[in-house]
Amino acid sequence: MTGMQARLSLVRRLAIACAVLVLAVTSLSAFVRLSRAGFGCEPWPQCYVQRATLPSEALAASDGQAVLAARWAHRVAATATLLLVIALLMKTLALQPPLQRQGRLVLALLAVSLFLAVLGRMGGDSRGPVVILGNLVGGLVMFAVACRLVLASKRDAAAKTVLARRLHPWFLAGLALVLLQVVLGGLLHAQHVANQCDLWAPCSAHHAAGWLVSAALLSLGLVAWRAGLALGGVLGALAVLQAALGIAQPAAAGSLVLALAHNVAAALLLGTLAGLLAVTRSDEAPGP
Ligand code: HEM
Repeated sequence: MTGMQARLSLVRRLAIACAVLVLAVTSLSAFVRLSRAGFGCEPWPQCYVQRATLPSEALAASDGQAVLAARWAHRVAATATLLLVIALLMKTLALQPPLQRQGRLVLALLAVSLFLAVLGRMGGDSRGPVVILGNLVGGLVMFAVACRLVLASKRDAAAKTVLARRLHPWFLAGLALVLLQVVLGGLLHAQHVANQCDLWAPCSAHHAAGWLVSAALLSLGLVAWRAGLALGGVLGALAVLQAALGIAQPAAAGSLVLALAHNVAAALLLGTLAGLLAVTRSDEAPGP
């Protein structure tokens, strides 16, 4: 293995660790947010409705053991992520020759993590839509960038067929649609309407759009899979899973597990699409 190959391999391993940690951070953050909102509380939906009237400080003060532990684990994982990003910065841009393509992704990771750190300091326990959306979208985008970095640092990951590479713009469109769904989902969460979703126009919009986006991602995943991209199969399966989790939510009467799984599936969809973008971009092959 040459020096450059060893360096890329290290960047890839650091990027995998970073992606795992970011997923832990976003999932722990979702667990805290959803628990505080009342998912999983008893008796449903009275306890959930009651929580809507409580100020954020009162909700934070009533955190149970599991939420307190999750907040602590969240802080540890977020600090470890920042350290990993700094290590990635050193390995990609501080050594000669610089790894420009991977370095750009690491700079994006650094920018989003600093944004999230500032938001965490300024927003505190706020339940305002701006803080919820900033956290949700920022964390999920960071996960997607880390996944892209994993595949952009893999030597033989580039798509082999012309057809597969032609799908690149479609993956970009898919990513934009999923991000839009995430924004709509975050707005829904901020409105605190999980018990009467059908009565709210944004909720119906999220459901209807969710159906269409899931169907589009399933089709795209199948086409990608047939074009030789194994990640296409993952995309299709995740699209079906996400739609199923969304449909099951109202019937499951405020299930914390389902709401959390819906959040994790959104992250995995973004990560898969970001990975597909990396392997179908011809100039994304690793190396200087
Ligand atoms: C690609 C498709 C979809 C994506 C990416 C997506 C993503 C999201 C996200 C990120 C949230 C916020 C969760 C949180 O606060 O952590 C959310 C909320 C929600 N989603 Fe989806 N969703 C999709 C499809 C659907 C579908 C098809 C349905 C139902 C038919 C649905 C039902 C809901 C409901 C009820 C909530 C509100 C939960 C709350 O009050 O916190 N979603 N969605």
